[in-house]
Amino acid sequence: MGLIGVIGKQLQHPRGLLGKALFAWMTPKTIEHARWTADLMEVQPDDDLLEVGFGNGANIELLAERTSKGHVRGAEISKTAIEMASRRNARAISEGRVTLHAAAGGSLPFDDGAFDKACTVATMYVIGNPGTVFKEMHRVLKLGGLAAVTFPVRENFMRFKPAQTDGFHLHELADLEAAFRDAGFVETRTERNDAVRFGAHCMLGRKAASE
Ligand SMILES: C[S@@+](CC[C@H](N)C(=O)[O-])C[C@H]1O[C@@H](n2cnc3c(N)ncnc32)[C@H](O)[C@@H]1O
Repeated sequence: MGLIGVIGKQLQHPRGLLGKALFAWMTPKTIEHARWTADLMEVQPDDDLLEVGFGNGANIELLAERTSKGHVRGAEISKTAIEMASRRNARAISEGRVTLHAAAGGSLPFDDGAFDKACTVATMYVIGNPGTVFKEMHRVLKLGGLAAVTFPVRENFMRFKPAQTDGFHLHELADLEAAFRDAGFVETRTERNDAVRFGAHCMLGRKAASE
C-alpha cells in the first residue's frame, strides 16, 4: 500500500504514531467544520452534548468550553483517538464535565433521551451505514433535541487523493439527507459553508417535541 493508501486507512481508523501525525495535519482543517457546527447548534452553557467520532478531541474541547454548566460525552472507536482526546481534555474529564466512551456510533451506550444536542463531524465518508448512526443519535436525544451532521462537500472531497483509496463511503448528499429523515428527524435542513477546507454541508434536524 502506498503513502496515499496509508493516509486513507488512517483517516478511517487512526492507529498509533501515524494516526497521531494524521490528526496534527487534519485538526486545523476539521476544527473549522466543528466550530461552524457548534455555532449552528447554538450550544448553550447548560446543554448535555454528544459527539460521535470525536477523533483527537479538539471538538470535544471546543464544546466543553461552551457548556460550562452542562456535560459533553463522546463515542469513538479508535483507541489512539481516545488516548489523544483523553489527554487533551484531562482537566475537563477530572472536573466531571467531559466523559469519553469507547463505542461505535451505531451502538451507543447511552439511555434514550439523554442529550439536548448530538453531533458528528467529518465522519460520514468513513461510515458504511450512516443510517444506523442517525437512528442511534435520534434515540439518545431528548424530545425536541437537535442533531447536526457535518461533512466535506462530496465533489471536493472526491478529488482528495486519499479519499479515492479503498474503504471510503462517498455517500451522495441526497442519500444522507434521506437516511437522516428516515431515522426520524423532523424540521430538517442542510446548510453549506464554502469558507472551510473542502467546503462543508451540515444537516440539522430535531427529534419531534412529542411522541
Ligand atoms: C476523519 S476522522 C474525524 C475526527 C474528528 N471528528 C474531526 O473532526 O477531526 C473520523 C473519525 O471517526 C471515527 N469513527 C469511524 N467510524 C466510527 C464509528 N462507527 N463510530 C464512532 N467513531 C467512528 C474514526 O476512528 C476517526 O477518529
